[in-house]
Amino acid sequence: MAGHETTANALSWMWYLLSQHPEVVAKARTEIDQVLGGRKPTFEELPQLEYLTQIIEESMRLYPPAWITDRIAVEDDYFEGIHIPKGVVVIAYFYGVHRSDRLWTDPHSFDPDRFSKVNKKSHTPYSYLPFGGGPRLCIGNSFAIMEMQLVLAAMLQRYDFP
Ligand code: HEM
Repeated sequence: MAGHETTANALSWMWYLLSQHPEVVAKARTEIDQVLGGRKPTFEELPQLEYLTQIIEESMRLYPPAWITDRIAVEDDYFEGIHIPKGVVVIAYFYGVHRSDRLWTDPHSFDPDRFSKVNKKSHTPYSYLPFGGGPRLCIGNSFAIMEMQLVLAAMLQRYDFP
């Protein structure tokens, strides 16, 4: 589940979003043509596929495959004035964080440019959590991004998403 269902879900939502946004597909294809010129990417070329990575990141903002996570409180605690008794389940709602208008401008719209190098700098810390955060951060996050870059590049070189 951790390694396959997550990536498959992310890619499925990505095709859905791309089918709605031909202008994003056109921009991605321009990048793929410039960097790869019809070839498959090598590992070294993957960082050059910046816009492709932005599409992946923005798709997982709108449709995070892991849309919640939970923890059991090991001790009594307080968070922002709320009492959390020992033993209760506390849920972090990633989907809600990703679509909060306190953290994102026009949060429901699909805009890969949010994840450009420049725009990323203005993101609020922990406003984007597709791979969780802290000590339990996903151990496969870089691998997952690499898989998705490879699939996305190969598919866009061959197929349309009407
Ligand atoms: C798009 C793909 C993926 C997403 C969205 C994703 C999401 C997540 C999230 C949110 C967590 C943290 C859960 C928590 O804190 O409760 C997590 C943990 C984890 N993920 Fe991923 N994951 C992905 C891909 C992968 C892959 C490819 C692997 C392995 C090859 C993997 C292995 C793990 C493992 C082992 C943990 C537990 C880490 C720990 O508790 O120390 N994940 N993942």
